[in-house]
Amino acid sequence: MTTKVMRAVVHEGAAGVGGVRVAEVPVPQPGPGEVLVRLEAAGLNHRDLFIVDSRTPADPWAVLGSDGAGVIVATGADTSVEIGTEVVINPSLGWAEPDVVPEIPAILGVPTNGTLAEYVVVPAGNVLPKPAHLSWTEAAALPLAALTAYRALFTRGGLTAGEHVLLPGIGSGVATFALAMAKAVGATVSVTSRSPEKLARATELGADRAIGSGGDWAAELGEPVDLVVDSIGSATFDSCLSVLRSGGRMVTLGATTGPDVELSLRNLFFRQISLLGTSMGSAREFSQVVALVTEHRLRPAVHRVHELADGPRALGGLASGEQFGKLVVTIG
Ligand SMILES: NC(=O)c1ccc[n+]([C@@H]2O[C@H](COP(=O)([O-])OP(=O)(O)OC[C@H]3O[C@@H](n4cnc5c(N)ncnc54)[C@H](OP(=O)(O)O)[C@@H]3O)[C@@H](O)[C@H]2O)c1
Repeated sequence: MTTKVMRAVVHEGAAGVGGVRVAEVPVPQPGPGEVLVRLEAAGLNHRDLFIVDSRTPADPWAVLGSDGAGVIVATGADTSVEIGTEVVINPSLGWAEPDVVPEIPAILGVPTNGTLAEYVVVPAGNVLPKPAHLSWTEAAALPLAALTAYRALFTRGGLTAGEHVLLPGIGSGVATFALAMAKAVGATVSVTSRSPEKLARATELGADRAIGSGGDWAAELGEPVDLVVDSIGSATFDSCLSVLRSGGRMVTLGATTGPDVELSLRNLFFRQISLLGTSMGSAREFSQVVALVTEHRLRPAVHRVHELADGPRALGGLASGEQFGKLVVTIG
């Protein structure tokens, strides 16, 4: 019997984007409880860059990518998903409930083979019907960033209607989803960026206040905020704390500019600030994301779309940070 092959964006050899290429690899087969998805599109994340930077020439080839959307074309035993269903893939593996956080959260796309390929195998519980109003590229942009934004805003951040949330670095995929979701539930949303173009885009998408990253945030906002959801990290940590009201919350989910900060505990305890960490989310939260996106007809901000053959270059472009929203690769 001949093994079927597919095109995929793989990493093999030298660490970094230099080790990324398009290759022909075997089409995976679903085992019990798994489904085979023929991918129409896949989204890129900073995680893909972190993965390739952390690998060594001794590691075997691996298919990159955590985000994807496509069609179920085969199922293993013990699955009830129908062949032909159009789905979005939840990249969070083995995490069912929001409050039962796994010790080491597993994410689709290395060590398991990922979505930058013509086919991917995932557990049947990790697919949900694609929201009908989204195109394939929009659906593929959704999973990781939207799940992270949802958990950061609501499960961890406790955002409610009428509250004021600040989203620093609005160009990031997570922040653009957070903007859409926070507006959908009736929050006031302020954003920061180093780029006037990104501030203008955010205002078009509904941001109430858009301020430059380099200024005095507290002065420019004019009022303290209830919640900050940050992924910039060390470069703007002090500014984030400075804008919170007493009793406010800060949720941190990334460290694009570095993870190490200096913290005055007095600043936390006197002002009764809650500093909360978050990462990805559970299957229940993913279904809540899909429901929210469907109910409010939210659309991801897609910055640019590439062909699969252009995957390695697209990944290199992610590092530049010039994007507003997501980079997506079309496959189908
Ligand atoms: N924990 C999780 O589950 C999870 C999930 C997804 C992402 N993340 C993390 O979240 C971060 C965002 O990821 P991403 O891929 O969406 O976006 P990204 O490309 O890392 O963008 C981050 C934003 O940070 C801002 N920024 C970068 N350098 C800055 C500096 N020196 N000063 C001020 N602002 C700066 C930029 O905003 P402007 O260009 O607007 O200024 C940029 O849009 C990454 O660190 C990623 O690892 C974590």
